[in-house]
Amino acid sequence: MMRNDAHLETRAVHSGMAGLRESGGHVPPIDLSTTFPLASVESGGDAYESLATGGDLLPGQTPVYQRLWQPGVARFEEALAALESAEAAVAFSTGMAALTACLLATVTAGKPHIVALRPLYGGTDHVLATGLLGTTVTWCDAASVSESIRDDTGFVILESPANPTLELTDIRQVVADARTVPVLVDNTFATPVLQRPLELGATLVLHSGTKYLGGHGDVMGGVVATSHEWTVRLRQVRALTGGLLHPLAAYLLQRGLRTLPVRVRAQQETAGELARRLVGHPAIARVLYPGLPGQDPEGLIGTQTAGAGALIALDLADGYAAASRFAESCELITHAVSLGGIDSLVEHPASLTHRPVAADAKPGAGVVRLSIGLEHVDDLYADIVAALDRVGSTST
Ligand SMILES: Cc1ncc(COP(=O)(O)O)c(C=O)c1O
Repeated sequence: MMRNDAHLETRAVHSGMAGLRESGGHVPPIDLSTTFPLASVESGGDAYESLATGGDLLPGQTPVYQRLWQPGVARFEEALAALESAEAAVAFSTGMAALTACLLATVTAGKPHIVALRPLYGGTDHVLATGLLGTTVTWCDAASVSESIRDDTGFVILESPANPTLELTDIRQVVADARTVPVLVDNTFATPVLQRPLELGATLVLHSGTKYLGGHGDVMGGVVATSHEWTVRLRQVRALTGGLLHPLAAYLLQRGLRTLPVRVRAQQETAGELARRLVGHPAIARVLYPGLPGQDPEGLIGTQTAGAGALIALDLADGYAAASRFAESCELITHAVSLGGIDSLVEHPASLTHRPVAADAKPGAGVVRLSIGLEHVDDLYADIVAALDRVGSTST
């Protein structure tokens, strides 16, 4: 039995396991039932009423239908909430489904205006820029949050580190500037191992679980950790719109959480070492990594976040031609979208993840983003340097 004051590593391994030992099990079962037998017409109706309006599964009731409640998903949610210091969490089929639920919840509450700090993940930028879900947006930076807030602002959204430039934003300051307006932090890059935004005053924490939480490149998912009040609203959106997490995905995500602290710290250590080694390489105009000298001017590492994370961006001196040749030349590092897994990936954000972003907010054409995995630092360094040599041979 885990104590309430257990450390993060212990919570990562043991959270979301309630009742398992008593049932004779050791790992969570994967229950694929789409429907659940009802004890009576009356109790089935009561359970439906509760779950379709975002309520909890009531004692003695069955989950009714997988879209309304799923035991394995609930375990993953409990585990993630325990890591993010949240009252509860709501899981979705993808990170974008999680964001969609947050946006629909605020639109239906009559607060369709979103204040968004750029840069954000390109998909998030895209859904906000198109207004597809009935939202309007004011783009801003950390200095202009206060003046961007309106009476109909539903929430302020930010990423720190930001995708793909890895700039850090002072979450406490944004929370203060937002006054009573909730702040949503996309914590996909930092993970709760490094940063827990709810402890800093944020109201909502969103993850693309597809990244570090799953950690092995084999599962898609999204999750929002938040208050009980928001949980009810988000569960209702999920029940009505159907962006639910599959039970197998929930199993894989919960299994991923159990090794999250060791993975993130090991990947971060390698990323930091690579970033330091790459500074000064003639093909690189700038290594973007918040752990490098001068890249954390507000001193947020150690106060807001426990570390700089495991993503690095390289701004290559010869622009697009160099960046595309670099991405195509990596051999050990796979040229592919996504991040946060055990194997290293490289991508060109301006062409791919940030393609839909408006020209004036798009990452530079010379920027490549590296997600550092669990390979040995020397092998990754050799691969990067060999790819940079090929870049050099085009530009000279
Ligand atoms: C920071 C961030 N947030 C959200 C998302 C969207 O997540 P998903 O691809 O699981 O829908 C991504 C995907 O790359 C991301 O990088």
